[in-house]
Amino acid sequence: MCGICGVVGHQNATPLIVEALRRLEYRGYDSAGIASLVDGQIARRRAAGKLDNLQAVLDVQPLSGTTAIGHTRWATHGLPNESNAHPHAAGRVAVVHNGIIENYEELRAEMIAAGRVFTSETDTEAVAQLADFYLDQGLTPREAASRTLARLQGAYALAIIFSDHEGLMIGARHGAPLAVGFGEGEMFLGSDSLALAPLARRIAYLDDGDWCVLRPDGVEFFDASNQRVQRPIQTVALIAGTVGKDGYRHYMEKELHEHPVVIGQTLQRIIDPVTRAINLPEFPFDVADVPRAIVTACGSAFYAGLVARYWLEAEARLPVDIDVASELRYRDPPLVPGGLALMISQSGETADTLAALRALRQRGQHIVSILNVEASTMGRESDVVLGMVAGPEISVASTKAFTAQLSVLAVLTIAIGQARKTITEKRAGDMLAALLDLPSRAAEVFSRLSDIQSMAASVAEARDVLYLGRGVCFPVALEGALKLKEISYIHAEAYAAGEMKHGPISLIDRDVPIVVIAPSTILFDKTLSNIQEAKARGGRIMAFTDEKGAQRLSGIAEHMVILPDVDPFVAPILYTIPVQILAYEVALRRGTDVDQPRNLAKSVTVE
Ligand code: F6R
Repeated sequence: MCGICGVVGHQNATPLIVEALRRLEYRGYDSAGIASLVDGQIARRRAAGKLDNLQAVLDVQPLSGTTAIGHTRWATHGLPNESNAHPHAAGRVAVVHNGIIENYEELRAEMIAAGRVFTSETDTEAVAQLADFYLDQGLTPREAASRTLARLQGAYALAIIFSDHEGLMIGARHGAPLAVGFGEGEMFLGSDSLALAPLARRIAYLDDGDWCVLRPDGVEFFDASNQRVQRPIQTVALIAGTVGKDGYRHYMEKELHEHPVVIGQTLQRIIDPVTRAINLPEFPFDVADVPRAIVTACGSAFYAGLVARYWLEAEARLPVDIDVASELRYRDPPLVPGGLALMISQSGETADTLAALRALRQRGQHIVSILNVEASTMGRESDVVLGMVAGPEISVASTKAFTAQLSVLAVLTIAIGQARKTITEKRAGDMLAALLDLPSRAAEVFSRLSDIQSMAASVAEARDVLYLGRGVCFPVALEGALKLKEISYIHAEAYAAGEMKHGPISLIDRDVPIVVIAPSTILFDKTLSNIQEAKARGGRIMAFTDEKGAQRLSGIAEHMVILPDVDPFVAPILYTIPVQILAYEVALRRGTDVDQPRNLAKSVTVE
């Protein structure tokens, strides 16, 4: 969802900005641009499409300057063309923006009435026009920025530079993340710490409503009421080296191969491998006393939440309500204070999930967030953060974060079940053993690659695909269908297998492959009946199952991927891996842009 960055320093800023933008490109790739001060004047280079297009422009028309801002765009207002590409400039001001200025129409009308001419269709240009308008009235850049910020409604992270003011940059944050990086005689701004990683190890995050004044030798922070404030500086681990494809064709392929390690690392952090004691962070409330849980998230993270609902209800006997965050935030369900709110997010910045978090906090819920980026906005606004140790996820489609989320949620289920005395010590031991065994079983999945590839060859021919699963495997089916849609552009739907006969069965014919998630759990026979119903209508069955299931499915399934036997409790974690690989293999065959599928962006910071 748009990435922004900025440099005020002493060396040519362009290569630094381009490097930061490369790390931010997962947030949007509709266009990219850079503005710097050359001899005190604003100079811009912009290009529609990916960062490589901007690089090509820079190769022909290099850009110098030590004060510069950069942007990679996920279009909200205006077509993804060059004139709508950021940075936007008006007179002596250039701006990059992540978010949406909700009152831009009003601001635009006001500026047009004042005789100003707009050159783009974006909401952002109103910010540049307004700041320049205030400069015209004799305000200093600082005053003009502060006055402009006070006029803005909506969500934004902004970086602003001013002609004739080398070494000055204003940053602002309202509902979209922004971090400041500290260098030696140079300072940086970035949408996240990943962007800043090669530039600065010391980082401070702006709080919501903050703005800041950057100069090469330091930064001043101000809160929403313009009071000077201090923000803590953290030293971040050096992650620059981990942001490469490491010989894989795509980030997604690399990240799929990281599943076993990520599951292992995540579990290691919360389970003592020797004593098998659960080591979750301290909760400022007693989990045994929570009356019920409410779970929310978006996209894949929501499907992880759906799995958790099955687990928490069945194992911990905890009543669970769940909804996607974009609905929950406006739904106003009756809630008993003291309930447990589980927020799940890879980025910790997703606008809908963050808004739901705030709404649930206001309603007296204890906020427990499962996050990959622990220093994110959600992390800072939660009572407890349960970190997944997934590492940077660059591919826009989420993969390893999903199994990491499930690993944390599985351990949380056991901990809550033990506290509520619904899980015996023996059962907890078995569940933990199954989890600790999972990294090895996950690694075995890759030895089934050729079977997944033969399945992919069939699926790649299809226009529509149906995914089916029951119980905890229904969310895995949803995840499979989402991943296939996202990266191969094939239409896919997932249904709870038993629901198929209530409507979707009419879609079935030879042209619609039916991908079934069918480990041999107590629901296997029920799923098999649904498979038979589909088969009887000409359906072509593609099954993910285990040895026992494979015996029952032979002669029925056209393709089978036979996975290692695991405790049914952990089956949704294991089965997710080949289902995601299937989507990847299909996308390869369709020749799509796997890491940066059309229209999408990661870390969705608009509503
Ligand atoms: C799917 C995907 C998205 C995200 C969703 C939530 O492959 O990546 O559906 O899962 O946008 O993002 P986070 O987890 O960052 O809140």
